[in-house]
Amino acid sequence: MSLLRRLLPTGQAVARRNMSGDVRTVTLIPGDGIGPEIAASVQKIFAAAEVPIAWEPVDVSPVKNADGTMGIPQAAIDSVNRNKIGLKSPLMTPVGKGFRSLNLALRKEFNLYANVRPCKSIEGFKTLYDDVDVVTIRENTEGEYSGIEHEIVDGVVQSIKLITENASRRVAEYAFEYAANNGRSKVTAVHKANIMRMSDGLFLRCCREAAEKYPQIKFEERYLDTVCLNMVQDPSIYDVLVMPNLYGDILSDLCAGLIGGLGLTPSGNIGTDGAIFEAVHGTAPDIAGKDLANPTALLLSSVMMLRYMDLYDHAKKIEDAAFVVIKEGNVITGDLGGRAKCSEYTNEIIRKLETM
Ligand code: NAI
Repeated sequence: MSLLRRLLPTGQAVARRNMSGDVRTVTLIPGDGIGPEIAASVQKIFAAAEVPIAWEPVDVSPVKNADGTMGIPQAAIDSVNRNKIGLKSPLMTPVGKGFRSLNLALRKEFNLYANVRPCKSIEGFKTLYDDVDVVTIRENTEGEYSGIEHEIVDGVVQSIKLITENASRRVAEYAFEYAANNGRSKVTAVHKANIMRMSDGLFLRCCREAAEKYPQIKFEERYLDTVCLNMVQDPSIYDVLVMPNLYGDILSDLCAGLIGGLGLTPSGNIGTDGAIFEAVHGTAPDIAGKDLANPTALLLSSVMMLRYMDLYDHAKKIEDAAFVVIKEGNVITGDLGGRAKCSEYTNEIIRKLETM
């Protein structure tokens, strides 16, 4: 804990440091399973790289509200609302009745409407594909994940896919804005409007309207099945892809697989009033607490976060150090084919940082 954090209650520390403009506070959700280990790795690397941020760790384990429902603790909600930026490790979702995914709850609470996942081949880490450089942008708040399901009669259930003009326009415009701001040249809208004429039709119309505002960005429309086929044949034909929730969930994992899996894939959840960055893998209960986890996905998510905060130099330095360690291949974790522990890999990145 920093000296300032020890001297002041959290809120005051945040306010005073922010006013000086040099240190920004980021909410940290250490999560479950391997979450705390990989979060500690990122914190150690950030400290070594002298990144000017202070962490505000919060626990998001559900608590009982006054009305008896379970929800995210108010202190965690206040922290994200105050800081407007967060880094999140994976959270465990118990399987079965009565549990709502905490990840979904966070997305709804903070209106995190766009999930952004850059999937870029990592030099030195050999996969079947060498030239992947795609970004999936997934609508994050509705579609098939609206959570509206009911039993009509015994043995017949209905699940509502909810598509609204507001949410579709918001994510479509974000995709073009992202493309324009990140030197990208093409946005592909992924859909099944041939089958779901009204819902995907509305999503597509919003993409077409957004495209008109960005004439410098090429726009194309492709069926989801065609994109899956093309993606495994030649991923280089795609650039930025924008799509409704379920398609994005599936296609973004497919793209992660092209570059070597979930352990290497970062993501950001962009909201109307802030953003939360997270690794896309789960809590890996099989290796939790054993110092075996690969922290790269969370580290690269934190690098995305630094760019979102305009801390480009720190982002590049940390990213370069991690990529050099992976390319050298001497001190890498088991999932990447190495034998190093999470702590050894972390220390190796720090050693590289010191030479940069
Ligand atoms: P998982 O991603 O946790 O694990 C799948 C396999 O990948 C396991 O063999 C695991 O050891 C390995 N793995 C995952 N991340 C790794 C890392 N960083 N380094 C090395 N190996 C890694 O998926 P699973 O087992 O389906 O889910 C476990 C729990 O995680 C569930 O409760 C699930 O709900 C939750 N989960 C949470 C997510 C989130 O918070 N964003 C996303 C996905 C799952």
